Amino acid sequence: MPKPKNFYVCSNCGARYARWQGQCRECGSWNTIEEEKVSPEREASSAGAKAAGAALKLSGFAGQSGTGAVSLSEISLQSRPRLSSGYSEFDRVLGGGIVQGSVVLIGGNPGAGKSTLLLQTVCRLSSSHKVLYATGEESLQQVALRASRLGLPVSAVRIAAETSIENICALAVSERPEVLVVDSIQVTHVQDIESAPGSVSQVREGAAALTQFAKKTGIAVFIVGHVTKDGTLAGPKILEHCVDCSVILEVGADQRFRTLRCQKNRFGAVNEIGVFAMTDKGLREVRNPSAIFLNRQEEVAAGSLAMVIWEGTRPLLVELQALVDESQYGNPRRLSLGTDQNRLAMLLSVLHRHAGVEFGDQDVFVNVVGGVRVEETASDVPLVLAMLSSYKNRPIDRRVIAFGEIGLTGEVRPVPSGQERLNEAVKQGFVKAIIPYDNAPSHPIAGLEVVKIKKVSELLTQV
Ligand code: TYD
Ligand code: MG
Repeated sequence: MPKPKNFYVCSNCGARYARWQGQCRECGSWNTIEEEKVSPEREASSAGAKAAGAALKLSGFAGQSGTGAVSLSEISLQSRPRLSSGYSEFDRVLGGGIVQGSVVLIGGNPGAGKSTLLLQTVCRLSSSHKVLYATGEESLQQVALRASRLGLPVSAVRIAAETSIENICALAVSERPEVLVVDSIQVTHVQDIESAPGSVSQVREGAAALTQFAKKTGIAVFIVGHVTKDGTLAGPKILEHCVDCSVILEVGADQRFRTLRCQKNRFGAVNEIGVFAMTDKGLREVRNPSAIFLNRQEEVAAGSLAMVIWEGTRPLLVELQALVDESQYGNPRRLSLGTDQNRLAMLLSVLHRHAGVEFGDQDVFVNVVGGVRVEETASDVPLVLAMLSSYKNRPIDRRVIAFGEIGLTGEVRPVPSGQERLNEAVKQGFVKAIIPYDNAPSHPIAGLEVVKIKKVSELLTQV
């Protein structure tokens, strides 16, 4: 038998080397290069994803790929309906439901609730669709116990304790499910690759094989993936490249809540979030997440303000806090949690230059409550208001809401979906909104006083 060939692969970017080295030349990361073994036959059959899909007979399934070239106009536009996962929060994150033949990667820390979410989903789906759950991490008894404890309808759920990708695909061919769950990619293995499950080659080849399988058969595949300590998906970047949709299940600062966040979606908006609560009866949807992120105390403190951010396709109300305090050590600190640090520095300069407020000898801390990350510029106006409120030690009424972008010349610029943000604020009981002039609603909104701002200096009079 020929000797297996060894080579070295970067676990971050997947670059290959003949020898071990400390730093990856491609992506620059340190200590990410690991030894991999591949059998010579496999190497000869090209490193691509030849595994499952190609090796299996897929007769009976509507083939989608490998049909030769056609004109784009000839392709039938009749889209197949999406399947509903049974959870509207989950459906929205996926862009409106499960697309047939798509591959969805669900990442998250151990204990985030990935297995629970998928188990609940397949059980709900099983009433009207065929599903297959391949569990590699937990035994069949463990899964069954959990399902019965959660009171899930299990009679139509097909399950297998299987870690070989080839066997999983073969099972799926005979079971013909519409949805297949693989829990998790880190424990599965592909034939002919001699490195351990979880290694770069195994993860890469396994995911590639499952993707090919999904495209060929039209089965929607959910792949569970673990994340590393710094919160990125374990395994090479290629894992995220080859799937259609990548979502992360995060444990919020408040341990009870889980946020499902879409990072990549070929069929919908990214940045979409879904919120769940982990209860003793499993995951429950939180239909009104603004209510939990905006869980504010009765008494008003200086430096706190509610803002409306736009997450994917809907508005979300979150609380922003700022602390501006005299610096003790002559080296003022600027720290922002949940917003961009550079943006904070920029806003401080704009405040100085265009509003005459200087925080030169002050520490400035900014925090978005509830562990929410704000990635849009609409937080500029509320951020400035919160900082001014803390600096002047003057609380802002808790029924005031704000949003808006601030430019380098001190102008307050409009942000997308102004009307929807205002509607959400009214729904949550806010009575006053401080917003950019160009976001002013065309008709007055009952019960809402709207303050229109053109320049950053005008914000000084609002605190
Ligand atoms: P699990 O789905 O096993 O996480 P993952 O697959 O992402 O590793 O979730 C396990 C966690 O969820 C565990 O910490 C216990 C908690 N949990 C509950 O609080 N209530 C429940 O009903 C269930 C099933 C889990
Ligand atoms: Mg699990």
